[in-house]
Amino acid sequence: MKTRLSPGLLLLIFLLLACLAAAGRETPYEKFQRQHVDTSGSWEPDPNRYCNFMMPRRNMTVSFCKDFNSFIHGVLAVITAVCGSGGTWHHGDFYYSNSPFQVTDCQTTGASRWPRCIYRGDGRSSRICVACQNGQPVHYARPSVCGGP
Ligand SMILES: *[C@@H]1O[C@H](CO)[C@@H](O)[C@H](O)[C@H]1NC(C)=O
Repeated sequence: MKTRLSPGLLLLIFLLLACLAAAGRETPYEKFQRQHVDTSGSWEPDPNRYCNFMMPRRNMTVSFCKDFNSFIHGVLAVITAVCGSGGTWHHGDFYYSNSPFQVTDCQTTGASRWPRCIYRGDGRSSRICVACQNGQPVHYARPSVCGGP
């Protein structure tokens, strides 16, 4: 007896596997949120403590110490709107927010050695520069990339 899988069934199996593979991966927008967005509203006020708590918590010290990372404190919808009415197109995919956000910059110190990642934090208020795809922020860039200070 010969059994053959119909093309329809093969397609179904293929689509199922593709869905399973995609389910485990974060989208660029989700990655941006994990790395750069803190919607908690109240956060640890000491920037050093904040960075040393948040960098591991957001999985940025898993296989190496990410050297530099910024967290934007705010409401996701307001941050996302920088790709639309809340921002001004600068160049390429980059948009510069019209209003400032509270931002914490985290930078590894000279004593930082993976897996013991040590950060120095710096809190400030500034306009943010983000790259957008399909109306969603997918990369955070230093303000200078958008012509800022
Ligand atoms: C960090 O990674 C772990 C293991 O892969 C995962 O379960 C967890 O959801 C991740 N945390 C964040 C904030 O993405």
